[in-house]
This record gives sequence, structure tokens and C-alpha cells, in this order.
Amino acid sequence: MMHMEGIHITVQAKSILSKILLLAPVLNLINGVRSERERERERERGASMADSTDGSSSFWTQANALFRKNLTFQRRNFKTNLRLVLFPVFLCLLLVSLQYLVNIELDKPSLKCGCTCIDQDGDGECERVCGIEYSDLDQVATCSIPSPPEWPPLLQVPAPQYRAVRTDRLLSFGDLPNDSCTSTGSCPTTVLMTGNNQSLGENLARNMFPGSSNFNSSNGLADVVLGSASETPVSNILEPAFFSSLPVYYVQSQCQANSTFSISVPVGSTKVEKEIRCVQGQHLWRNRSSDINNELYAGYKSGNSEKKINEILAGYDFMNSNVSNYNVIVWYNSTYKNDSGNIPLGLVRVPRSINWVSNVFLQLLLGPSTQMLFDFVKEMPKPETKLRLDFSSLLGPLFFTWVILQLFPIILTALVYEKQRNLRIMMKMHGLGDGPYLMISYAYFLAISLVYIFCFVVFGSVIANALHFIAGLKFFTLNDYSIQFVFYFIYINLQISLAFLVAALFSNVKTAAVVGYIIVFATGLVGVGFFQFFLEAASFPKHWIVVMDLYPGFSLYRGLYDFSQYAFTGNYMGTSGMRWGDLTDDHNGMGHVLITMIVEWVVVFFTAYYIDQVLTSGSGARNFFWHNLKSKPSSSFRKPSSSFKKPSLQRKGSKRVRVEQLVVEQDTSHAVVCDNLKKVYPGRDGNPEKIAVRGLSLALSQGECFGMLGPNGAGKTSFINMMIGLLKPSSGTAYVRGLDITSDMDGIYANMGVCPQHDLLWESLTGREHLLFYGRLKNLKGTALTQAVEESLKSVNLFNGGVADKQSGKYSGGMKRRLSVAISLIGDPKVVYMDEPSTGLDPASRNNLWNVVKRAKQNRAIILTTHSMEEAEHLCDRLGIFVDGSLQCVGNPNELKGRYGGSYVFTMTTSSNHEANVENLVKGLSPDAKKIYEISGTQKFEMPKEAIKIADVFRAVENAKSRFDVQAWGLADTTLEDVFIKVAQEAQPLDVLS
Ligand SMILES: *[C@@H]1O[C@H](CO)[C@@H](O)[C@H](O)[C@H]1NC(C)=O
Ligand SMILES: *[C@@H]1O[C@H](CO)[C@@H](O)[C@H](O)[C@H]1NC(C)=O
Repeated sequence: MMHMEGIHITVQAKSILSKILLLAPVLNLINGVRSERERERERERGASMADSTDGSSSFWTQANALFRKNLTFQRRNFKTNLRLVLFPVFLCLLLVSLQYLVNIELDKPSLKCGCTCIDQDGDGECERVCGIEYSDLDQVATCSIPSPPEWPPLLQVPAPQYRAVRTDRLLSFGDLPNDSCTSTGSCPTTVLMTGNNQSLGENLARNMFPGSSNFNSSNGLADVVLGSASETPVSNILEPAFFSSLPVYYVQSQCQANSTFSISVPVGSTKVEKEIRCVQGQHLWRNRSSDINNELYAGYKSGNSEKKINEILAGYDFMNSNVSNYNVIVWYNSTYKNDSGNIPLGLVRVPRSINWVSNVFLQLLLGPSTQMLFDFVKEMPKPETKLRLDFSSLLGPLFFTWVILQLFPIILTALVYEKQRNLRIMMKMHGLGDGPYLMISYAYFLAISLVYIFCFVVFGSVIANALHFIAGLKFFTLNDYSIQFVFYFIYINLQISLAFLVAALFSNVKTAAVVGYIIVFATGLVGVGFFQFFLEAASFPKHWIVVMDLYPGFSLYRGLYDFSQYAFTGNYMGTSGMRWGDLTDDHNGMGHVLITMIVEWVVVFFTAYYIDQVLTSGSGARNFFWHNLKSKPSSSFRKPSSSFKKPSLQRKGSKRVRVEQLVVEQDTSHAVVCDNLKKVYPGRDGNPEKIAVRGLSLALSQGECFGMLGPNGAGKTSFINMMIGLLKPSSGTAYVRGLDITSDMDGIYANMGVCPQHDLLWESLTGREHLLFYGRLKNLKGTALTQAVEESLKSVNLFNGGVADKQSGKYSGGMKRRLSVAISLIGDPKVVYMDEPSTGLDPASRNNLWNVVKRAKQNRAIILTTHSMEEAEHLCDRLGIFVDGSLQCVGNPNELKGRYGGSYVFTMTTSSNHEANVENLVKGLSPDAKKIYEISGTQKFEMPKEAIKIADVFRAVENAKSRFDVQAWGLADTTLEDVFIKVAQEAQPLDVLS
């Protein structure tokens, strides 16, 4: 007693624990298939069973069986797997070839430094020389420039049409030039000034604009203030001002009439001729620097009216400058753009502006002869370069995201496949627990993913090392391999858990595949199009990025993007890529991506497991949650419910009493005991609720085959589905070898075999492999297993001619059927359900199958539904006719015939004008005879047996033959078919008539 108390307490404690944690599924998983409590319960019950053999296999046996099956399955799918693993290889190669093509394109002579053939040493043969001078504008960029040319430094002068003039918008700045000058293109250009000391400013300005310019001084052009309205160059290698059609300006306080000159600028060994034109410069004083700001802002190009542009030559704020202190702020327009694109150009025209104002200041301090000359600008020398577009770095994150994401639809479809084809349920019905299933499936997908990623990284690294021009693949080699491993490992796990979770939403492989691939491509494209944009936009709030990372696809993209960024800079700077130390760096999201993914992995995994338990499993698991929450420490058979007493049964009253007795006595000698089993489908869309099974009670002993006959829609399938755990009874229950179908389905599965109406087979596995798998699930091992499989194959006639080793997808319908029957019988299950086992079989196979079933029924209980009366008569010890949700009658075939038949059927065919004669004849034989039907001379009558002697019938017919022409006649005992029709008709008159 004390001992029992102890157990009781642990049980309580455990259920409380599960209540608190709501992690009941987890506990179950950890505990293996069945909890201690359930085992205890079974032991109690099993003790009273005579032939109690607990055939249930252990967690590891089941895992082993599934593992081997999956291995075989994979071997069959070798080609698909190879294709899968080669996919990253293929993408890497694609990247390489694209980059290669791009490189070839960029290496074309038209994009390389121009060359020509010149006879330099005068020997009559020409030598190839390359250089800027032989290049066109496309080629120049790649040339080597050992000594770049010197250019006169220039100011950025606004083009005449854009120079600041007085307009409506600039009324407050009344001292701007009148806009009448715009038509002649002779507007002066303005320098705006401000500072604390206006007189100082005015003095400086006076020196800025000379009255005349000296082009012939010894200082060359350095004395003259030159400027250009042409676009600002990026570098000083070529000054476009000297090659564009726009003039080069020189700034003066007044322009004379004849103010256009031509100068020649020495460039290397040659000279460039250029026309230079005078532009009038003027300064305007502003009181505050904010005035200058407002003026510039007001004049900024707005809308598409270019006329309103208000550009100035320069703006200076001298602040607190005085003779001993020089401070200046310079305004310049940095947004000068090149016509075609938006590439912001360099600031190479700013230095002259600073030199100009500084020069003026020096002159003010030290006299007009002081000069700080700005002679020329000259670019750094540069070697010959190649044009490069790093295609692989550009597309890397996108491609790699696709590579890794594409595992998702593959796992998803594999899971949905087993679900769609009901294979998962089939395995479960043959004893495969959820624990082993999830463990092996998970481990299996993990292994595939790891191999896949491994190939991906190894191949990427190899290519990166072999082909240096693919900078994008440096991704693999530059970043620390351990970070890469951890990142991929965590992501893969998250992805697999996610696939398990998402698989719950799908029941069709095709939909799942389509949705899966859409997710893959969309994630990659959205990643590269938007997410990366947000990552790179400095102003985008960082916490939103963290929120976006919650979507696993973006986490992946983020990680890959960070890898590629580190690889890119690493490659560029000759340093390494990402190291563990970099995880603390603000610039990368790797740290929080890893944490996010780990958390999501755990959450998604357990959610997926839980949903799987609730949704996809049989009744045992369907109300799993409740069973774990409701603590039911004492589990004896449920006492009969009160509804039990209702005298609602007529013909099967005795059966009910028997069941009642069995339930009360906890008798376990019967294999199956159904106790008032009911199934009601709730009404939907305004339809009334449908009662599929109304209170079925039945007891079946070991060694008995029970046949269920019934018209379509009578509820047979609902009944079978309840018994095999696909449906949960609305009320009542059934006990299979003492285990309750509402709570102990897992225990029942260990001793159950099912032959479903539709064959549930893996198309790529052979018959033998199916049997091996299910045999292992049923705890068969070693020689016992091979022997059982062989016997089983022989018994269903699948052994000869190599049929056993053919893939089941190539079987004919009959062969599949026989295999299904063999599967249901392997491993000696004590209770077997067969749903129309012989449908679609040829007579020979059918006979064969019948023999198998007959042999098999000796030590087990079989419940069989069929539409073939012949089969029912042949196989079943007892028959039940199931109409409209209840058994109308139960008995062995002969009993039934006796009870419901009780009459002969007399048929006679004559010409139609003798019909009345036949009727008289029959009335003469038996006044109680009933006419069942008549069609054009053929009439069928039913005559009660007790009133008739067969000899009388013969005599009467002989008699009749002499009187009129009898074409055919017959007398038959009632067949089972007649019984069936009669019972069905009585129970369901409307259905049959309509
Ligand atoms: C302003 O600058 C002039 C020199 O141009 C100087 O003589 C004068 O003292 C300065 N005024 C103030 C208030 O510093
Ligand atoms: C600056 O340069 C851009 C590009 O040429 C031009 O559109 C804009 O109007 C200029 N702004 C000012 C204030 O000069």
C-alpha cells in the first residue's frame, strides 16, 4: 500500500510539473515513447492476459527501423540527392562564369589603354606604344600615367544662364544684378561675403577682381583667376575644361569689349589650344552668414524650371578675421554633377577658391606685390589598371541566400509527402512513436543539410583559392571557418524546425513546393532589393533592422551580407575577414543574428513539436494535451456510463448485455470490446449534424474474424478510423486487448496491423523493404525478421520472379493490395483491421489472399470491411450488417441466412401473356408468396420455406410446362446478398428507394 502511495505521488508531481511547464510533449519526448505511468498501467492489465506478449518495440528499435528505411529511401533517391548537393557547386560555377564573362568584356581593347604602332628608333619596324595620347575617352581610365600633366588650377564658374540675378524669389536681395543680362549671356558672377568687420571684407574684395589680367607674366597663368563652367572632374588627370566646348573664363572687375584670347596650355609634350573669355566678377556684402545661407537656399534649383537657379562663384565668411588673425569659411557647391549620371564629382576646383581668398588676404597685409602662387594641379602618377566589376561580391549574398534557403522547400515537401500520402499515420499505426519519428527525421534532415553546406563551403573555398579573380568567393576563405560553421549550423537547425512547423499548414506536396520556392526567391530578392538598402542606409533606425531580422530569411541574408562585407574589405585591404572578436563590433549584426536565431530555433522547435502532437497525430495525441493535464492517477476501465441502461437496442440487446458484462468484469480474454462507441460529426454550413456511428457495442475474441457489411456511407469507415486512432469517438470507447482507444493508442499500435483501403506505400521502396521496415517497427530482429519477411512475401505471392525487390511504384494495383495485406500482418499483430482487402484483385490472387487471411486469423482478431458477400462468407466467423450508423444484426453467415432469409426465391420467365398463369402457379404453391419484381415476363417471388416442399415445386413446374411455354425457371435459397439488401432496406428504406 505504501508503495502504491509512492507511485501515486510521483505521478501527481509529474503531472503538476507538466501543468506548470506546459511542456508535456517535451517530457514525453524525453521519456521515450511511453511514460512510466502508462507502463505501470499496462503491466497491471497485462498481468491478467493469458498470452500477454508486449510486442511494443523500444524507442531505439523504432528509431533504428526508421533510420534504415530512410537510408534505403535515400539510396533510391541518389540522383535527386546528388543534384541537390551539386546545386551550390552549380551556383558557384555560374558565378565564376558570369564573372569570367564580365572580365572578358572589360578586357576588350576598346576598354583598355589605347595603343598604336610607332617607329620610334627609326629602324623601319614599328613598336607598340600605349598611353593616354593614343586612347579615347573610354580607354583613358585604364592607362598607366607615369607623369600626369599639370593643369592650371580652376574655379567653378557658374554658366551664364545660371548666374545669380534678381528674380521674384530673390527680391529681398536687391543688390543682385538685373536679370536683363541673361538674354545676352553677359551676367556678372557673384561672390558673397560676410564677417564681423565689413571694411576689412570690402578691402579684401577690392583685390579679388583685378582691372586687367596679365597673360604674359613670368608666372604663366598663375596670376590670372581662371575658372570653368564645365563639369567638375573626379581627378586631375584630365581637366575637362580644356576639352569641352565651354570657354575657360578669367575673372575681372570689368570686361573690355575685346576680351577673348586664345592661350595654349602645355600638356605633357603637346599643347592644348583654348579660347579664354572674360567674365565680370563682383562681390556683395551680407551682414550675417545666415543671410548667405538663405540666399543660396532660395536660389536652389526647384522643380524643373532651370531659370530660377541662382549660382554664385564663391561665398566667404571672414568671421573675426583681422590683421593678426585669419579665419575664413568657404562656401562651394559640391553637388556639381556630371550630365549623365548622379556620380558626385570631386572637389578639385575648391583649392583655387581657397588660394584666391588667402592670396588676397596676404596682399592686404603685405602689399600688392605679395603673391602666393598656385602654379598647377597634378594628379598622382598611376600604373596601368584594369577595369573591374566585382560581380561576385555584388551578387554573393543573394546567391548564397538562395543556396541555403533552397533546402527549406526540400525539407518541407519531404515532410508534406509523408503527410499527404498518409504514410506518417500508417507508420504510427504500426507502432512508430512520435519521439523516434521526430528524432530520426530531424537528424536526417540535419545530416543532409550539413553535407550540403559542407559541399558548398568546401567547393566555394576551393574555387576561391584556385581562381583569384572571383573576389566574391573570398567570402569562404577570409572569414573565420568556425564562425561560418556556427552560423550555418544554427541557421540550418532553425530552418529544419521551421519546415516542421510550416509543414503543419500544408497537406499537398505541390502547394508546399510552390509556396516553398516562392519564399526562397522572394526572400533573396527582397533581401537584396530592400533589406540590404536598409542595412546600408545610415539613417535607417537600427532597431527596425533588429525587428526585420526576426524573419529567419533576413537573419540569413544579414549574416551572409556581413560575411561578404568583411571579406570585401579584407580582400581590399589585404587583411582577414570576420573573426570572433569582430562580433562585438557595432557595424555587423552577426552577434545579434546568432542570438536571434538560437532563440527562434528553440521556440520554433517546441512549437512545431507541440503542433505536430496536436494536429497530425491520431486520437491518442489529439487530446494529448488534456490527458497530460488531467491527472488520472488511477486508471481502471471506465465504468459504464449511465446512457448504457437505455433500452435502445432491439435485435442486438443480448450483445449489449454481454459487452456490459465484459466491461464491468474487466475481462481481457476478448481482443476487442467496443463500448457504446459513438461518432457524431458536428453540423457545418447550416447542415444538420451527422451521426456516423450511433452507439456501437461489440466484443470480439481472439481468433475471430468479424466482417462488416454495409452500404456506402453507413459509417463503417468512421468506425474503423476510430478503432485505428484516426478519429476520436464522440462518446463511448473501445478496448483493444484491455487498452482504451481514447487514451492508450500508442500501446495499442504496438499490437495492431492495418490494411487501409488505399495502399499507403513509398513508391521508391521495394516490397521487401516495406516489410523489413514494418517488421522492425514490430520489434522483429535478425533471422526472425528475415524469416518473417520471406514467409510473408511468399504467403501473398510476391516472392517469386523478383517481385519482392521491385519498387512498389511499379507494382500493379493487385500487387500493392497484397503487399498492404502482408504489411498489416507482419510482426504478428493481435488485432488487424482490413478495409476491403481484396478490391481490385483477380480471382486467383483473391483466393490466395483469402488463404492468407484465413491462416492469419487463427491467433488474432481481424475486423474486415468488404462489399463482397463471397469474401464475407468465406472469411468471416461472424458478420455484422452495418446500416445507418448501427449494427442491424450480428451472427455467422448461416445464422443470418436462416434468420433473415427463411424463404426461397422462385424465378420464372415466360412470354408476357402467361404472367398471370405463373402468378396462379405460385399462389397455388404458397398463398403467402410475395412478388419481388417482374420485368417483361420474368418474375421473381419469395416463398416462405416452411410452407414449401421442393418436390412440390418441381412437380408444379413440370405441370406448367405442359400448359404454356416456360423459357427458364429457377429456385434458389436466400443468399447473403438477399439478406444484406433486406436488412439494409428495412433499416434505411428511404435511402435505398431514392
Ligand atoms: C576693421 O578692419 C580694418 C582694416 O581693414 C581696421 O583698420 C579696423 O580697425 C577694423 N575694425 C575693427 C572694429 O576691428
Ligand atoms: C549646385 O550645383 C548643382 C549641380 O550643377 C546645381 O543643380 C545647383 O543649382 C547648384 N546650387 C547652387 C546653390 O549653386
